[in-house]
Amino acid sequence: MSRRRLIGTAGAAGAAGLVAGAAGGSATYAATRPDEPTALATVGSATVAFHGAHQAGITTPLQARGHLVALDLAPGAGRKEAAALLRRWSGTARRLMAGEPVGEGDTGIALDAGPSALTVTFGFGRTFFDVTKLADRRPSALDPLPAFSSDHLDARRSNGDLWVQIGSDDSLVAFHALRALLKEAGDAARVRWQMNGFNRSPGATARPMTARNLMGQVDGTNNPKPTDADFDRRIFVPAKPPAGTPGWMTGGSYAVVRRIRMLLDDWDALPVDRQELVIGRRKSDGAPLTGGTETTALALDKTGPDGKLVIPDNAHARISAPEQNGGAAMLRRPFSFHDGIGADGTPDAGLLFICWQADPLRGFVPVQRKLDRGDALSAFVRHESSGLYAVPGGPREGEYVGQRLLES
Ligand code: HEM
Repeated sequence: MSRRRLIGTAGAAGAAGLVAGAAGGSATYAATRPDEPTALATVGSATVAFHGAHQAGITTPLQARGHLVALDLAPGAGRKEAAALLRRWSGTARRLMAGEPVGEGDTGIALDAGPSALTVTFGFGRTFFDVTKLADRRPSALDPLPAFSSDHLDARRSNGDLWVQIGSDDSLVAFHALRALLKEAGDAARVRWQMNGFNRSPGATARPMTARNLMGQVDGTNNPKPTDADFDRRIFVPAKPPAGTPGWMTGGSYAVVRRIRMLLDDWDALPVDRQELVIGRRKSDGAPLTGGTETTALALDKTGPDGKLVIPDNAHARISAPEQNGGAAMLRRPFSFHDGIGADGTPDAGLLFICWQADPLRGFVPVQRKLDRGDALSAFVRHESSGLYAVPGGPREGEYVGQRLLES
């Protein structure tokens, strides 16, 4: 029997085969799960700290699985209920991120798995401050984003009072956290929308590399790096916040979340050399069309023998570069999504674009304004939903996320 055949058989046998294998170390088990003994020690055992200056899930390396959920406070629920909810959620997030069970009533979905780099990140939408009567503490950065001409936004899948981002390198661990947190929402809050995403699994490539998106591009190369001198200033609200930013946002960040559908059938029909002109980088390795390797700077002024710019005027990487936007920069930390085939018969797939910045007016907004006017990529993408959230700084020991807003 070939190895592939054996895997198929074991899969069909399901749990029974695995139990037998686990007990006896049988050939079936060894053949279907050759790397099992090391899995928990590597992927499964990775933990991310819950406490710290910033919440987890912002500078954490991309995880293989993600859930994004927005909730609205239930009618009648206000500041008190919101504070109790954030306290419950924080306790559960802390335990799960440390690899501990939820406690009584645990669903058991993740019982035999390690935390697998689980992160849970909480944010507040603009409307949260009205419902909780905390409008005087609302950061001005939560003013609604401007409308962009190419937007096709669905209000029901946009915004929301509360936003939760869950990431993990294991799908069951991520789902377990999602179930636990949604149960704890109880009568206090109701789900407004949920989106599920994915990235490559750790260990899937022979060498660590920048992620690829569903268009096949290397995506994330020119992100600000935590080692950059100006990283914190660009991504996190400083200890002395600027005017319009309340003190409770110190150490926090603003997340812009857009469900961007990719028109993949149109994209895939484009020859690779034309795809590369749309971005300004090579598809194979992400290197600029002006030469070098992935990390070589774009030579934006370089022209070819025909006198034309090698990286075209409307190339996505040119238009979005900080030097073209008064220094505007953001940390892009997305998940891909695929929700089957849409009503139009094409893949309902794309990018759950999440970007982080100390101020959306100096990050997402100017860049998206520019992209909206002239990005070659626009013909192949559609922004279908939008959210903007204030993500407070990380909790100190004994504190819950948002406590400085809700209890000061
Ligand atoms: C589905 C939609 C999108 C796709 C497929 C996409 C893809 C890419 C790719 C392949 C790159 C080049 C590699 C890199 O530096 O990461 C890039 C760069 C970049 N993109 Fe996007 N992008 C999308 C949407 C957006 C949006 C909505 C924004 C912000 C408003 C944005 C901002 C940027 C920035 C700031 C860069 C880095 C530019 C530089 O400094 O060189 N992208 N994107």
